[in-house]
Amino acid sequence: MRVLSTWDHGLPANLEALQRLQAGGSATDAVEAGCIQCERENGQRTVGLGGWPDRDGTVTLDAAVMQCDGRAGSVAFVRGVAHPIQLARMVMDRTPHVMLAGAGAERFAREQGMQVRERPLDAEQHAKWQAWLQEKRYAPAVNVENHDTISMIAMDASGRMAVASTTSGLAFKMHGRVGDSPIIGSGLFVDRGVGGAVCTGLGEAVLRTAGAHAIVEAMRAGMSPQHACEALIHRLIDRVPGSGDYQVGVLAMDFSGRTGAFSVQRGFTYALAERGQNAMHQAPAALGQDSTIEVAMRVRERPGT
Ligand code: GLY
Repeated sequence: MRVLSTWDHGLPANLEALQRLQAGGSATDAVEAGCIQCERENGQRTVGLGGWPDRDGTVTLDAAVMQCDGRAGSVAFVRGVAHPIQLARMVMDRTPHVMLAGAGAERFAREQGMQVRERPLDAEQHAKWQAWLQEKRYAPAVNVENHDTISMIAMDASGRMAVASTTSGLAFKMHGRVGDSPIIGSGLFVDRGVGGAVCTGLGEAVLRTAGAHAIVEAMRAGMSPQHACEALIHRLIDRVPGSGDYQVGVLAMDFSGRTGAFSVQRGFTYALAERGQNAMHQAPAALGQDSTIEVAMRVRERPGT
């Protein structure tokens, strides 16, 4: 059993996911549980209803899940849904579709018994939005604060793999903007016999390179997860101008449990849970000279992982 998650908020999400795996849950149960934990408790304002709003002052959320058997579910541009990852899973499990967006996704949520209630911005969200309106500067910055979308990969005791992603997207985005996170093949992808990959950071850069799919296809062609991650990031830097000003981080795992992590800029952290340890790591970066360093953040060991 292994779980791999983006950023510092991946550490508690991994623990939640591991609990599911240890209780006999599937990889899909694990990534869903981890994402729910982050949607509920993320203090970084990048996931869930507490996330930063768009430029109109509305919080809109994206989420997706995919299994290694090719089944997938996704929701985009949803409002008032506390756990969009659960809704994405319902799209996968209960509809003939892969993706629902906007009002249709919210209607489906109500039909499934979920509460859909837009809540007013809290004081911090409102203040930050008002401050942004003073300048109205639309310039995605290098992410140095160690947070963004949570994206997860898990492999369960039966060797099944699943990937998931949930986010409030780019702060102060245009109303209606959708990033990479709910797009199967961009923010996340997994295929049986090969492995899975997930992305975080500037969604537009990931969308332009179909990031996660490109990584999985590189693994299918024989690259290790690490080399596949590095190949995608170098392609992205080559194809998407302005790499000095944006951050993208990627993670990958194959079915033998090998993992990969790489980013455009320094500062991309990820959490890896394996063999009873759940630890934070710093990903190496294309525009830095970093090597993978364990940052000595070991938490409670759990047996059987
Ligand atoms: N990676 C999240 C987004 O750009 O929306």
